[in-house]
Amino acid sequence: MQQQAFSITPLSSAAQTPRTDRSQLIAHIKRMLVAQNAVLVAHYYVAPELQELADETGGYVSDSLDMARFGHEHAAKTLIVAGVRFMGETAKILNPEKRVLMLDSAATCSLDEDCPADAFAEFCDAHPERTVVVYSNTSAAVKARADWVVTSSIAVKVVEHLHKQGKKILWAPDKHLGHYVQQVTGADMLIWQGACIVHNEFKAKLLADMKAAHPEAAVLVHPESPAGVIALADVVGSTSALIKAAKTLPNPTFIVATDNGIFHKMHEVAPGKTFLEAPTGGVGATCKSCAHCPWMEMNTLDKLAQVLETGANEIHIDEAVRQKAVISIQRMLDFAKSTQYMVMGKGNV
Ligand code: 13P
Ligand code: SF4
Repeated sequence: MQQQAFSITPLSSAAQTPRTDRSQLIAHIKRMLVAQNAVLVAHYYVAPELQELADETGGYVSDSLDMARFGHEHAAKTLIVAGVRFMGETAKILNPEKRVLMLDSAATCSLDEDCPADAFAEFCDAHPERTVVVYSNTSAAVKARADWVVTSSIAVKVVEHLHKQGKKILWAPDKHLGHYVQQVTGADMLIWQGACIVHNEFKAKLLADMKAAHPEAAVLVHPESPAGVIALADVVGSTSALIKAAKTLPNPTFIVATDNGIFHKMHEVAPGKTFLEAPTGGVGATCKSCAHCPWMEMNTLDKLAQVLETGANEIHIDEAVRQKAVISIQRMLDFAKSTQYMVMGKGNV
């Protein structure tokens, strides 16, 4: 039986108040954040107004590694996570004494869904000689089974480190990121076959055509994309790394193969530059997500107000699962600190 490692109190429909005045709503949210000693931690893919609110209220907008670090180090008693469930769960695993609230309890991730804990445990049991490295886009129960948790910004460094020690790797769940890490590090990796429904849709042939039509452009690719797309990249990296590249590279134009929510921060850090969405369509394409994550889209300002008003969508994690999962996450954070690898968010971007 798969272990139910989390539970979320659903938002009651009675709590959903229609609101018309955005500035009044924002002022109301700001007051509630202060009154509840709460801080908003947002991912780069969520709506611009949530990113702006996080920045304006002493919260944080970043990639998944740095969101975890920020929530862990911040003194607030409540962490409000604008992102998807694995991000909220990671925050709770690291901060059991804090209240962690999600804006929508249904905001999941296809990678997390592709890797059920019981099937994953069987896979690990069949390969006991391998070091288990899982991507952060997984449930608490999967993390509890891992030796290491990694995010896209630190996956190559961690696997490189393990490979130098002669370790063989069992990797889950993202096949594209796994193959990319394998290619860069040369490590022996056994790879689970999950995929991100957003990045899986980027098309290499169409990207090559777009690149030819824009010789002035640099191509920025998140490593959850297929190998053919990664092969055309000038920069492959986490969301933070791609934003940094948009700011620092001299190119006037960028073709970006990741969720288009990232364009808000790219425009902010590199005003005047042009950002083009990498192609997902074309003849025979079956794009369902079209460069935007349907679960990140579930995060809205109205839901943030409702969650602050009602305390709904609190994350709870089974304590036995949490105590195991925290070891593999803390190992990543300690590694990041010891190698000075941590991307320090705003300062760097
Ligand atoms: P980052 O850690 O690069 O922000 O990626 C998280 C994610 O879910 C990408 O789809
Ligand atoms: Fe998951 Fe993909 Fe959405 Fe990121 S963009 S949260 S990997 S489904």
